[in-house]
Amino acid sequence: MKDVREEYHADGLTEASLHDDPLEQARRWVDEAIEAALPLPNAMTLATVSADGQPSSRVVLLKGIEAGGFTFFTHYDSRKGEEIAVNPKVSFTMFWQPFDRQMIVIGEAHKVDQQESDSYFASRPYASQISAAISPQSRPASRAWLEDEVARLEQAFPSAPVPRPAQWGGYRIVAHEIQFWHGRPSRLHDRFRYQRQEDGSWLRERLAP
Ligand SMILES: Cc1cc2nc3c(=O)[nH]c(=O)nc-3n(C[C@H](O)[C@H](O)[C@H](O)COP(=O)(O)O)c2cc1C
Repeated sequence: MKDVREEYHADGLTEASLHDDPLEQARRWVDEAIEAALPLPNAMTLATVSADGQPSSRVVLLKGIEAGGFTFFTHYDSRKGEEIAVNPKVSFTMFWQPFDRQMIVIGEAHKVDQQESDSYFASRPYASQISAAISPQSRPASRAWLEDEVARLEQAFPSAPVPRPAQWGGYRIVAHEIQFWHGRPSRLHDRFRYQRQEDGSWLRERLAP
């Protein structure tokens, strides 16, 4: 690992190239990753913190940037869900290669309303609906038990729609800080941090790499 040295050659970021609204800037970067057909362009590494201050992280998929926040879907009784219930402060990171771009978001996660979860659940493929509905996410479970549960639910609901389980739904992360990082040659990277002010405007500053 010590010998892995990647040089970053991209043009980088300037004040002028950035949108004044960091949510718009975030949308631009995600859209560019999607348009370039990068693998998993909407994958985000989400960190939550337990009641006793222990952080944990995992990858989830960003499903929208709307209503002032970043939306993802999961099980509310998973580890992350239980941690968010006690402490809604979260952070997530997205990294796009070969664009040499990283985005870091810090904010609070709030459940989206049930209608929004219903409509996204209904849009998922049938097999994903079944898997989500039977999974006691983050609990110990054998493969055999999981497959039996899938077969049982497939019998009960031979085609979509499968009812959305109450413990499955969306969160929207409302950010108060968003950072855009762009790799540059010789590790003199570009970083811009936006911090939300009390009046709702955003303060933007360049940070040292
Ligand atoms: C590429 C990728 C995408 C994933 N997307 C999701 C997702 O959108 N929602 C989700 O609940 N888990 C997703 N997972 C699984 C999570 O990483 C994780 O295993 C699961 O949510 C349980 O996390 P927890 O026990 O920390 O709560 C994804 C995993 C990978 C590798």
